[in-house]
Amino acid sequence: MEINIARGNIISSDSEAVITFHFEGETSLKDDMELLDKALAGNLSDLVSKGEIKGKFKEVTQLYTFGKIPASRVYVAGLGKRSELDTEKLRVAISEALKSIRRKGSTAVAVTGFVPETAGLNAETWGKVLTEGSLLGTYAFKKYLTRKEDERETQRLILLVNDESVLGPIEKGSLVGRIIAEAVNLVRDMVNEPGNVMTPTRMAEIASDLAQKYGLGIKILEKDDMLRLGMGGLLGVAQGSQQPPKFIVLDYQGRIGEGTDIALVGKGITFDSGGISIKPSEGMGDMKGDMAGGAAVMGAISAVAQLKAQINAIAIVPATENLPGGNAFKPGDIIRIMNGKTVEIISTDAEGRLILADALSYALEQKAQRIIDVATLTGACRIALGDVCTGAFSNNEELVNLVIASGRNAGECIWQMPMNEEYREQNKSDVADIKNTGGRYAGAITAAWFLREFAGDTPWVHLDIAGTSMLDKERGYNPKGATGVPVRTLVDLMVKLAERIKS
Ligand code: BES
Ligand code: MN
Ligand code: ZN
Repeated sequence: MEINIARGNIISSDSEAVITFHFEGETSLKDDMELLDKALAGNLSDLVSKGEIKGKFKEVTQLYTFGKIPASRVYVAGLGKRSELDTEKLRVAISEALKSIRRKGSTAVAVTGFVPETAGLNAETWGKVLTEGSLLGTYAFKKYLTRKEDERETQRLILLVNDESVLGPIEKGSLVGRIIAEAVNLVRDMVNEPGNVMTPTRMAEIASDLAQKYGLGIKILEKDDMLRLGMGGLLGVAQGSQQPPKFIVLDYQGRIGEGTDIALVGKGITFDSGGISIKPSEGMGDMKGDMAGGAAVMGAISAVAQLKAQINAIAIVPATENLPGGNAFKPGDIIRIMNGKTVEIISTDAEGRLILADALSYALEQKAQRIIDVATLTGACRIALGDVCTGAFSNNEELVNLVIASGRNAGECIWQMPMNEEYREQNKSDVADIKNTGGRYAGAITAAWFLREFAGDTPWVHLDIAGTSMLDKERGYNPKGATGVPVRTLVDLMVKLAERIKS
């Protein structure tokens, strides 16, 4: 969808459909609502006073204009109470309106681009958030459908502003919003792709394309390199598959000077059958999305590069399938991670932590100042937090608080989970340094403790997105399927870290 900014208002717009906003409980209409009411001979205030249009958050009312203004339909999107408006509500409201329009089909749509007197939400924020909500809310994964859909997609959205002075800020915000939303949609595409297409090799190809497009450094380590570096975790998991594993490293140098300010590590299991500890067949197809963490860190570093944030970052993605081939690793096996630590395999289905252990060891060798890992790591996290909040686990309160704050700003809920020392015991092994499962209880936490052993003293946050990376049914601007979580959080975090590092 093309998004343009223009001077004007919805009553003179020649777009087929127009969107404007209404706040709950306001009866005297202001701004575009006032203009529209006049043009519609008081019909609008009539509907408001009769309670037909309430302005409740997520409410969308469709009106026909019968030639009174150039647009043939008006959509009034509720924003809830004016004093309670925040960026997340605005994202959801615009996406609800655009989804209603999609049912009718209008290729050109215009929207009130800025409503003054919305506390804390300046014009730049409006531009950013309306753009994000629009691009995220109209996303659909349709590339394998050969049947013709009867819905017409909105091709063009115009953000209309009356006031010349806010044109610039809205434009600026919209550009940022586009970069971020497109990164999220790229990640959604990668996660929605079936496992026969999104192989480790394909992930590496996409990484190369991104590197080329946005000027990132890239390194793809092959099996020989992994052997040389002693990456026994990744190699162990990859043994049961015919697809060659890839260890992908993207490098963004956004500031002058050496050093890696942050390493983003993402789990890249392109299909998780469980291996020899095979999963039940029901729902196993969803395990094509077990590379969502890897995709997210690739998307986030590309967005940060486009935003030209002054930070040095690397994204690391260990990628492989987890299959039960004849050469597969087995329960009882003992493997050795890149940092020399040995792991007793209890379940080959606890594979994510094994490949991440190598990736974390690699990040430490790169002397990253901070590490954030992102992984669809445990069913236990999904049981605990459902599909609403991502679980956060950390060895550093300051860093995890920054991550949570960025999540809030970006509209992605992140909830910190405890990491008491007592949980660590559950990973103890009699025959190796550690075992790869910690028993039935607190499965998300013992998995996090496993990773923590490989992060050393480096400030580290682990984000378990097993529950949030895919939705069973659409919610707000997230469609059914991949959400692209937590790209927006990671981008917000890196932009803020860049400012901190500078000062
Ligand atoms: N990829 C799964 C976790 C997962 C489950 C992601 C559901 C998304 C939705 C992971 O590799 C896994 O299998 N974890 C096991 C760990 C167990 C064997 C200790 C789990 O959660 O059951
Ligand atoms: Mn698994
Ligand atoms: Zn997995």
